[in-house]
Amino acid sequence: MTSDEAIRLHAVSRRYGAGDSAVTALDEVSLVFPRGSFTAVMGPSGSGKSTLLQCAAGLDRPTSGSVVVGGTELTGLSERRLTLLRRERIGFVFQSYNLLPSLTAAQNVALPLRLAGRRPSRSRVREVLDRVGLADRARHRPAELSGGQQQRVALARALITRPDVLFGDEPTGALDTRTGREVLALLRGMVDREGQTVVMVTHDPVAASCADRVVFLVDGRPDGELTGADADAVAARMTRLEALPC
Ligand SMILES: Nc1ncnc2c1ncn2[C@@H]1O[C@H](COP(=O)(O)OP(=O)(O)O)[C@@H](O)[C@H]1O
Ligand SMILES: [Mg+2]
Repeated sequence: MTSDEAIRLHAVSRRYGAGDSAVTALDEVSLVFPRGSFTAVMGPSGSGKSTLLQCAAGLDRPTSGSVVVGGTELTGLSERRLTLLRRERIGFVFQSYNLLPSLTAAQNVALPLRLAGRRPSRSRVREVLDRVGLADRARHRPAELSGGQQQRVALARALITRPDVLFGDEPTGALDTRTGREVLALLRGMVDREGQTVVMVTHDPVAASCADRVVFLVDGRPDGELTGADADAVAARMTRLEALPC
């Protein structure tokens, strides 16, 4: 592990259940996500994309293999240490935003610091809201915001702790095309301007083409990758992966 690696997975497997009904969601996956890089993860439904993100983010524990985040091996960490590491070093955004409806945008953004027992400064909350272009919506509740704005609040919330890695599981999946592009441009800007590491699952070849690298998963195993590919090249690859014999 070198310091230019944000995350390293080595032979990570995740099996669910036992016996005849056992499912191998990840099968000895080894991958490195370099610091300051933007990686898209693509693959057919059920290929293990969400499981990969959850294991890499310390939200789920692999059945075997090792995950190293910023030099810290997650295997064997107690639940408490893992929670602390997640809070401090990992940001996660979901397709469904997962904002707390009763809190304002500013309160949602401040939540990770409050959970960590820290007093969020007003200027820090304002700064991250400003970075996602929502400084003027700080007092709005999620129901008063559009989907794209809610996802940008979720992004600000994920970034307030200055995480080593920002994960997104289909972060643009619920957004219309134009709004999705705005969120992608924000992610790309964070990588280019601040050296943020981003790992994003997506079904959208245009979204994937915003990344530096696209990793393909099939049946829980990496199945090649593309670097600097345009949307047409990504779409062609996905079409081949998803082709069913008929
Ligand atoms: N909690 C779970 N219990 C049992 N099987 C699961 C669970 N979560 C995921 N799986 C199975 O693991 C495989 C990979 O799932 P997932 O990572 O969600 O795929 P993707 O995100 O690529 O659609 C699928 O076969 C899925 O049914
Ligand atoms: Mg998924």
